[in-house]
Amino acid sequence: MDISFFVFSGTGNTKLICSLFAEKLNGMGNKASIERIKKDTLITAEPECLVIAYPVHAFNAPAPVLSFIRRIKKSEKRPAAYLIETSGEPLGLNDAAFLKPRKLLEKKGYDVRGFFSYVMPYNIIFPHSDGMASRMLSVAKRRIESDAATIANFGENAVRIGAFKRIVSAILRIEHPAMPWIGRHYKVTNDCIGCGLCEKNCPEHNIRISNGKPVFGNDCSGCMGCAFTCPKDAIRISILDGWRVNVKYDFNTRPATDDEICHYLRSSYLRYFHKWENRTENHLEIIRT
Ligand SMILES: Cc1cc2nc3c(=O)[nH]c(=O)nc-3n(C[C@H](O)[C@H](O)[C@H](O)COP(=O)(O)O)c2cc1C
Repeated sequence: MDISFFVFSGTGNTKLICSLFAEKLNGMGNKASIERIKKDTLITAEPECLVIAYPVHAFNAPAPVLSFIRRIKKSEKRPAAYLIETSGEPLGLNDAAFLKPRKLLEKKGYDVRGFFSYVMPYNIIFPHSDGMASRMLSVAKRRIESDAATIANFGENAVRIGAFKRIVSAILRIEHPAMPWIGRHYKVTNDCIGCGLCEKNCPEHNIRISNGKPVFGNDCSGCMGCAFTCPKDAIRISILDGWRVNVKYDFNTRPATDDEICHYLRSSYLRYFHKWENRTENHLEIIRT
Protein backbone atom coordinates (compact mmCIF):
# COMPACT_ATOMS: atom_id res chain seq x y z
CA MET A 1 0.00 0.00 0.00
CA ASP A 2 1.14 3.56 -0.72
CA ILE A 3 1.18 5.56 2.49
CA SER A 4 1.93 9.27 2.21
CA PHE A 5 3.15 11.08 5.31
CA PHE A 6 2.88 14.87 5.33
CA VAL A 7 4.79 16.18 8.30
CA PHE A 8 5.04 19.56 9.98
CA SER A 9 8.01 19.52 12.33
CA GLY A 10 9.77 22.57 13.74
CA THR A 11 12.53 20.90 15.71
CA GLY A 12 12.63 17.33 14.42
CA ASN A 13 10.60 15.30 16.95
CA THR A 14 7.60 14.69 14.71
CA LYS A 15 9.86 14.00 11.75
CA LEU A 16 11.78 11.43 13.80
CA ILE A 17 8.57 9.63 14.81
CA CYS A 18 7.39 9.55 11.19
CA SER A 19 10.75 8.21 9.96
CA LEU A 20 10.35 5.32 12.40
CA PHE A 21 6.80 4.70 11.15
CA ALA A 22 7.99 4.78 7.53
CA GLU A 23 10.84 2.37 8.27
CA LYS A 24 8.49 -0.07 9.94
CA LEU A 25 5.81 0.23 7.23
CA ASN A 26 8.33 -0.25 4.43
CA GLY A 27 9.68 -3.31 6.25
CA MET A 28 6.12 -4.69 6.15
CA GLY A 29 6.07 -4.37 2.35
CA ASN A 30 4.34 -0.98 2.03
CA LYS A 31 5.58 2.08 0.20
CA ALA A 32 5.75 4.91 2.70
CA SER A 33 6.91 8.37 1.65
CA ILE A 34 7.52 11.45 3.79
CA GLU A 35 7.09 15.04 2.68
CA ARG A 36 7.53 18.06 4.91
CA ILE A 37 4.58 20.47 5.23
CA LYS A 38 5.82 23.89 4.24
CA LYS A 39 4.02 27.07 3.28
CA ASP A 40 3.48 25.92 -0.31
CA THR A 41 3.20 22.11 0.07
CA LEU A 42 0.40 20.53 -2.00
CA ILE A 43 -0.82 16.96 -2.45
CA THR A 44 -0.43 16.36 -6.16
CA ALA A 45 -1.66 12.73 -6.42
CA GLU A 46 -4.41 11.39 -4.15
CA PRO A 47 -2.79 8.92 -1.70
CA GLU A 48 -4.17 5.47 -0.90
CA CYS A 49 -3.58 6.28 2.73
CA LEU A 50 -2.80 9.75 4.05
CA VAL A 51 -0.99 10.43 7.33
CA ILE A 52 -0.67 13.97 8.64
CA ALA A 53 1.69 14.56 11.55
CA TYR A 54 2.49 17.64 13.61
CA PRO A 55 3.53 18.88 17.06
CA VAL A 56 0.90 20.15 19.51
CA HIS A 57 1.05 23.93 19.82
CA ALA A 58 -1.04 25.32 22.71
CA PHE A 59 -3.37 22.27 22.64
CA ASN A 60 -3.96 22.80 18.91
CA ALA A 61 -2.52 21.81 15.56
CA PRO A 62 -0.15 24.50 14.24
CA ALA A 63 -1.79 26.94 11.82
CA PRO A 64 0.27 25.79 8.76
CA VAL A 65 -1.15 22.27 9.19
CA LEU A 66 -4.70 23.60 8.96
CA SER A 67 -3.79 25.72 5.91
CA PHE A 68 -2.23 22.65 4.30
CA ILE A 69 -5.39 20.57 4.82
CA ARG A 70 -7.53 23.40 3.42
CA ARG A 71 -5.43 23.22 0.22
CA ILE A 72 -6.14 19.47 -0.27
CA LYS A 73 -8.48 18.67 -3.16
CA LYS A 74 -11.81 17.11 -2.14
CA SER A 75 -11.84 13.36 -2.71
CA GLU A 76 -14.79 11.31 -3.94
CA LYS A 77 -13.18 7.97 -2.98
CA ARG A 78 -13.06 8.40 0.83
CA PRO A 79 -9.36 7.45 1.27
CA ALA A 80 -8.16 6.43 4.74
CA ALA A 81 -6.38 9.05 6.83
CA TYR A 82 -4.52 8.99 10.14
CA LEU A 83 -3.32 11.79 12.41
CA ILE A 84 -0.12 11.65 14.46
CA GLU A 85 0.89 14.28 16.98
CA THR A 86 3.85 14.77 19.29
CA SER A 87 3.69 16.80 22.48
CA GLY A 88 6.02 17.69 25.32
CA GLU A 89 3.52 16.86 28.04
CA PRO A 90 1.74 13.57 28.65
CA LEU A 91 -1.65 15.28 29.01
CA GLY A 92 -4.97 14.06 27.62
CA LEU A 93 -5.74 17.70 26.88
CA ASN A 94 -3.33 17.47 23.95
CA ASP A 95 -5.83 15.19 22.18
CA ALA A 96 -7.84 18.34 21.45
CA ALA A 97 -5.22 19.11 18.79
CA PHE A 98 -6.81 16.33 16.69
CA LEU A 99 -10.15 18.14 16.49
CA LYS A 100 -9.63 20.72 13.74
CA PRO A 101 -7.51 18.56 11.42
CA ARG A 102 -10.06 15.74 11.74
CA LYS A 103 -12.97 18.06 10.93
CA LEU A 104 -11.18 19.61 7.95
CA LEU A 105 -10.08 16.24 6.56
CA GLU A 106 -13.60 14.83 6.84
CA LYS A 107 -14.88 17.83 4.90
CA LYS A 108 -12.32 16.93 2.21
CA GLY A 109 -13.86 13.46 1.93
CA TYR A 110 -11.25 11.52 3.96
CA ASP A 111 -12.10 8.69 6.35
CA VAL A 112 -10.11 9.63 9.47
CA ARG A 113 -9.61 6.24 11.10
CA GLY A 114 -7.02 6.73 13.78
CA PHE A 115 -5.16 9.09 16.09
CA PHE A 116 -1.74 8.50 17.64
CA SER A 117 -0.07 10.77 20.12
CA TYR A 118 3.55 10.49 21.33
CA VAL A 119 5.30 12.36 24.10
CA MET A 120 8.61 13.80 22.94
CA PRO A 121 11.02 16.29 24.53
CA TYR A 122 10.10 19.92 24.82
CA ASN A 123 11.29 22.49 22.31
CA ILE A 124 9.93 25.35 24.41
CA ILE A 125 9.47 26.13 28.13
CA PHE A 126 12.44 24.06 29.45
CA PRO A 127 14.72 21.35 28.08
CA HIS A 128 14.08 17.81 29.20
CA SER A 129 17.13 15.77 30.23
CA ASP A 130 18.70 13.54 27.59
CA GLY A 131 17.65 10.56 29.73
CA MET A 132 14.00 11.68 29.56
CA ALA A 133 14.29 12.21 25.80
CA SER A 134 15.79 8.76 25.41
CA ARG A 135 13.03 7.09 27.46
CA MET A 136 10.36 8.94 25.45
CA LEU A 137 11.85 7.70 22.19
CA SER A 138 12.21 4.17 23.48
CA VAL A 139 8.49 4.11 24.44
CA ALA A 140 7.59 5.58 21.03
CA LYS A 141 9.62 2.90 19.23
CA ARG A 142 7.83 0.11 21.08
CA ARG A 143 4.42 1.67 20.38
CA ILE A 144 5.17 2.20 16.68
CA GLU A 145 5.63 -1.58 16.33
CA SER A 146 1.87 -2.03 16.73
CA ASP A 147 0.66 1.43 15.62
CA ALA A 148 2.27 0.95 12.19
CA ALA A 149 0.42 -2.36 11.85
CA THR A 150 -2.86 -0.57 12.65
CA ILE A 151 -2.23 1.83 9.74
CA ALA A 152 -1.10 -0.91 7.37
CA ASN A 153 -4.32 -2.85 8.08
CA PHE A 154 -6.59 0.23 7.82
CA GLY A 155 -7.36 -0.33 11.51
CA GLU A 156 -9.02 2.09 13.85
CA ASN A 157 -7.63 3.90 16.86
CA ALA A 158 -10.25 6.17 18.37
CA VAL A 159 -9.81 9.11 20.72
CA ARG A 160 -12.40 10.74 23.01
CA ILE A 161 -12.41 14.51 23.14
CA GLY A 162 -14.87 15.86 25.70
CA ALA A 163 -16.28 19.34 26.24
CA PHE A 164 -13.50 20.55 28.58
CA LYS A 165 -10.75 19.73 26.07
CA ARG A 166 -12.73 21.42 23.29
CA ILE A 167 -13.17 24.62 25.30
CA VAL A 168 -9.50 24.89 26.39
CA SER A 169 -8.33 24.20 22.85
CA ALA A 170 -10.74 26.77 21.35
CA ILE A 171 -9.54 29.46 23.78
CA LEU A 172 -5.86 28.74 23.16
CA ARG A 173 -6.35 28.87 19.40
CA ILE A 174 -5.47 32.53 20.02
CA GLU A 175 -1.96 31.18 19.39
CA HIS A 176 -2.70 31.20 15.66
CA PRO A 177 -3.06 34.98 15.27
CA ALA A 178 -0.61 35.67 18.13
CA MET A 179 2.41 33.80 16.78
CA PRO A 180 2.87 35.88 13.59
CA TRP A 181 2.85 38.99 15.80
CA ILE A 182 5.31 37.52 18.32
CA GLY A 183 7.53 36.17 15.52
CA ARG A 184 7.76 39.58 13.89
CA HIS A 185 9.57 40.76 17.04
CA TYR A 186 12.24 38.04 17.15
CA LYS A 187 15.77 39.50 17.36
CA VAL A 188 19.32 38.23 16.99
CA THR A 189 22.25 38.94 19.28
CA ASN A 190 25.77 39.81 18.16
CA ASP A 191 26.64 36.11 18.45
CA CYS A 192 24.82 35.49 15.14
CA ILE A 193 27.29 34.31 12.49
CA GLY A 194 24.83 34.61 9.59
CA CYS A 195 25.10 30.88 8.81
CA GLY A 196 21.59 30.87 7.30
CA LEU A 197 20.46 27.68 9.06
CA CYS A 198 17.37 29.45 10.42
CA GLU A 199 16.43 30.67 6.93
CA LYS A 200 16.94 27.18 5.46
CA ASN A 201 14.86 25.39 8.11
CA CYS A 202 11.92 27.80 8.43
CA PRO A 203 8.84 25.93 7.14
CA GLU A 204 7.00 29.19 6.49
CA HIS A 205 9.87 30.78 4.49
CA ASN A 206 9.56 33.58 7.01
CA ILE A 207 13.26 34.30 7.50
CA ARG A 208 15.64 35.87 5.02
CA ILE A 209 19.27 36.74 5.53
CA SER A 210 19.93 40.38 4.85
CA ASN A 211 23.38 41.91 5.36
CA GLY A 212 24.49 38.67 7.01
CA LYS A 213 21.69 38.62 9.63
CA PRO A 214 18.21 37.02 9.72
CA VAL A 215 15.20 39.26 9.16
CA PHE A 216 11.88 37.91 10.42
CA GLY A 217 8.68 38.37 8.38
CA ASN A 218 4.99 38.25 9.24
CA ASP A 219 4.30 34.50 8.89
CA CYS A 220 5.91 32.89 11.96
CA SER A 221 4.06 29.78 13.17
CA GLY A 222 6.07 29.53 16.40
CA CYS A 223 7.61 26.15 15.53
CA MET A 224 10.88 27.20 17.27
CA GLY A 225 12.98 25.65 14.51
CA CYS A 226 15.13 28.80 14.30
CA ALA A 227 15.80 29.37 18.01
CA PHE A 228 16.11 25.68 18.90
CA THR A 229 18.72 24.85 16.24
CA CYS A 230 20.72 28.10 16.13
CA PRO A 231 24.36 26.97 16.56
CA LYS A 232 25.14 30.14 18.54
CA ASP A 233 21.84 30.34 20.51
CA ALA A 234 21.61 33.86 19.11
CA ILE A 235 17.85 34.14 18.47
CA ARG A 236 15.66 35.88 21.02
CA ILE A 237 12.00 34.92 20.75
CA SER A 238 10.36 38.14 21.96
CA ILE A 239 7.92 37.77 24.89
CA LEU A 240 8.45 33.98 24.90
CA ASP A 241 12.20 34.32 25.42
CA GLY A 242 12.07 33.04 29.02
CA TRP A 243 10.85 29.75 27.51
CA ARG A 244 13.55 29.57 24.80
CA VAL A 245 15.10 26.11 24.46
CA ASN A 246 18.31 25.62 22.46
CA VAL A 247 19.59 22.07 22.81
CA LYS A 248 20.52 19.00 20.80
CA TYR A 249 18.91 16.03 22.53
CA ASP A 250 21.00 12.87 22.75
CA PHE A 251 18.41 10.15 22.26
CA ASN A 252 21.09 7.46 22.50
CA THR A 253 21.92 8.08 26.12
CA ARG A 254 20.76 5.75 28.92
CA PRO A 255 16.99 6.22 29.47
CA ALA A 256 16.08 8.02 32.71
CA THR A 257 15.05 5.76 35.56
CA ASP A 258 11.83 6.47 37.49
CA ASP A 259 13.89 8.38 40.07
CA GLU A 260 15.31 10.64 37.37
CA ILE A 261 11.96 11.84 35.96
CA CYS A 262 11.54 15.64 36.06
CA HIS A 263 9.54 17.19 38.91
CA TYR A 264 7.18 19.03 36.56
CA LEU A 265 4.20 16.70 35.86
CA ARG A 266 6.30 13.87 37.31
CA SER A 267 3.36 11.57 38.01
CA SER A 268 1.90 12.12 34.51
CA TYR A 269 5.22 11.22 32.84
CA LEU A 270 5.55 8.14 35.05
CA ARG A 271 1.98 7.08 34.22
CA TYR A 272 2.67 7.53 30.50
CA PHE A 273 5.93 5.55 30.59
CA HIS A 274 4.54 2.73 32.75
CA LYS A 275 1.32 2.43 30.75
CA TRP A 276 3.09 1.86 27.45
CA GLU A 277 6.12 -0.02 28.76
CA ASN A 278 3.81 -2.56 30.47
CA ARG A 279 1.35 -2.73 27.60
CA THR A 280 3.97 -3.30 24.91
CA GLU A 281 5.76 -5.82 27.14
CA ASN A 282 2.50 -7.82 27.53
CA HIS A 283 1.80 -7.47 23.83
CA LEU A 284 5.27 -8.75 22.88
CA GLU A 285 4.86 -11.59 25.39
CA ILE A 286 1.60 -12.67 23.68
CA ILE A 287 3.36 -12.63 20.28
CA ARG A 288 6.27 -14.71 21.68
CA THR A 289 4.01 -17.43 23.20
C1 LIG B 1 4.55 27.23 20.38
C2 LIG B 1 4.58 25.88 21.01
C3 LIG B 1 3.51 25.45 21.77
C4 LIG B 1 3.53 24.18 22.36
N1 LIG B 1 2.44 23.78 23.05
C5 LIG B 1 2.42 22.54 23.59
C6 LIG B 1 1.24 22.08 24.27
O1 LIG B 1 0.19 22.73 24.31
N2 LIG B 1 1.29 20.87 24.85
C7 LIG B 1 2.43 20.08 24.81
O2 LIG B 1 2.41 19.00 25.38
N3 LIG B 1 3.54 20.48 24.16
C8 LIG B 1 3.56 21.68 23.53
N4 LIG B 1 4.67 22.10 22.84
C9 LIG B 1 5.84 21.18 22.73
C10 LIG B 1 5.89 20.44 21.39
O3 LIG B 1 4.61 19.98 21.02
C11 LIG B 1 6.83 19.23 21.43
O4 LIG B 1 8.10 19.55 21.89
C12 LIG B 1 6.91 18.60 20.03
O5 LIG B 1 7.41 17.28 20.14
C13 LIG B 1 7.81 19.38 19.05
O6 LIG B 1 7.77 18.72 17.80
P1 LIG B 1 8.69 19.13 16.56
O7 LIG B 1 10.11 18.91 17.00
O8 LIG B 1 8.29 18.17 15.50
O9 LIG B 1 8.39 20.54 16.21
C14 LIG B 1 4.67 23.33 22.22
C15 LIG B 1 5.74 23.77 21.45
C16 LIG B 1 5.70 25.03 20.85
C17 LIG B 1 6.88 25.46 20.02
